[in-house]
Amino acid sequence: MTTRKSSLAPATVILFGAHGDLVRRLLVPALYRLDCAGHLPDDVQIIGVDHNEVTDEQFRARLGEFMLQLAADPCAEGGGEPLKKRQWARFSQRLSYLKGDFLESETYQAIKERLGKAKSGNAIFYLATAPRFFTDVATQLSQAGLLEESRGSYRRLVIEKPFGTDLQSACALNAHLLGLMNESNIYRIDHFMGKDAVRGILAARLGVPWMEAFWNRHYIDHVQITAAETLGVEGRGKFYEGTGALRDMVPNHLFQLLAMVAMEPPAANQPDSLRDESATVLGAIRRITPRQAMAQSVRGQYRAGRIDGQRVPGYRSEPGVARSSNTETFAAVKLYVDTWRWADVPFYLRTGKRMSTRATEVALHFRPTPVTGGIPADLAGNGGYLTFRIDPEAEIAFDMQAKVPGPQMKLGPARLRYAAADHFQLPTATGYESLLYGCLTGDQTLFQRADAIEAAWRAVEPFQQAWSRDDTIQPYAAGADGPPGAKTLITKDGYDWHEI
Ligand code: BG6
Repeated sequence: MTTRKSSLAPATVILFGAHGDLVRRLLVPALYRLDCAGHLPDDVQIIGVDHNEVTDEQFRARLGEFMLQLAADPCAEGGGEPLKKRQWARFSQRLSYLKGDFLESETYQAIKERLGKAKSGNAIFYLATAPRFFTDVATQLSQAGLLEESRGSYRRLVIEKPFGTDLQSACALNAHLLGLMNESNIYRIDHFMGKDAVRGILAARLGVPWMEAFWNRHYIDHVQITAAETLGVEGRGKFYEGTGALRDMVPNHLFQLLAMVAMEPPAANQPDSLRDESATVLGAIRRITPRQAMAQSVRGQYRAGRIDGQRVPGYRSEPGVARSSNTETFAAVKLYVDTWRWADVPFYLRTGKRMSTRATEVALHFRPTPVTGGIPADLAGNGGYLTFRIDPEAEIAFDMQAKVPGPQMKLGPARLRYAAADHFQLPTATGYESLLYGCLTGDQTLFQRADAIEAAWRAVEPFQQAWSRDDTIQPYAAGADGPPGAKTLITKDGYDWHEI
């Protein structure tokens, strides 16, 4: 077995919520993959903390079983890659377990003891817990002195989504955390930032000079951002009931995509250069009244229908969901970004569960070509669109009109396409590898800063306010691309949704 050496400083990673889905499905597999690639410090120790009574051996065995399941399941996220048994055996020795209540100070004393025995004082505290524990765990860490950086070592706190449920709660959480530590020690996660194809949007803008030339209101007519899922709420009905599609996806994931498209190119290759631009552009989303928000949005909820030919139940029949629930499983909103570059260019965002297909993408629609003698009038007017597909496959495509072969001057739809898989060997990855690597190297580029999070919640606040006063929600059959109102939202402006 060849083991790649890492040059990273040793560290201890403490995973709060060690028995949760996130740790098992995403964090441990990502840490293992980083280890296989030589991107984990040689002396890293990973301590799982949770309330269950489990030995180190049982903890490792349980995770090992999951890794085998993952290897055997090509449909699972990050699945289908054979487990390197010797590598896993070596990696799993880095894993240990600590039984502890997140609310009890003894837990933090026990962590302190463990850290005292570690090779270095570097520690990453990863809050993979339910959000209700975020403030208490941070407070306990601080009271136990665990957030103090001494002996030249670092202390970092990683906090998962959802970061608040509205502007007020996000501001309160930021204020609380910033009362305990510096912004430079806080790593707020939005897993979309770990996706290569999301950063690929900025890479294309920075790497292809002619793209930048048309990347503005003079050439782009409007922008569509879509995150469509075929999955339903997947056993998370209880969580989803209190969340809904808007909070779950818009101020976080969809706004990361919006920021990548709409931000000014960062002036320096520094984490805060990109984060400054991201916060600026989110802060420039036009502030509207709840009444305007009502006119610029649509909510839907899926009913029973068919996905891939299989019958699936409606949202209200999902476990944990109220039979009279008014939680939206689809949201579409229209926004403007009031910057010099994007003034008056509409941005249409939509996201939904149980839609016809899985597709996460950004489409920039070009202004129509002028009608001249050279192009038959019925074919003129289509400026084409540039799509950045994030999921299921990373792809950039330009849909355009091209000459149909033959004696007549006719145009027909054609496509220029770049697929990452055709050019690069794609590693098995879920995005958490890049995020964890950022935590270990102290690079905050991919993490959300307090001001950007607050700007995002501020931008969705009018929709939240409007919807809290008017509970109109439109049903759609599972397998459809949202309710009828979603179509009206865009067709009334003379456009149509890009087919996914
Ligand atoms: C999560 C949401 O943050 O993102 C889920 O809570 C959603 O509801 C998921 O399904 C989508 O992420 P991805 O990477 O599968 O597109």
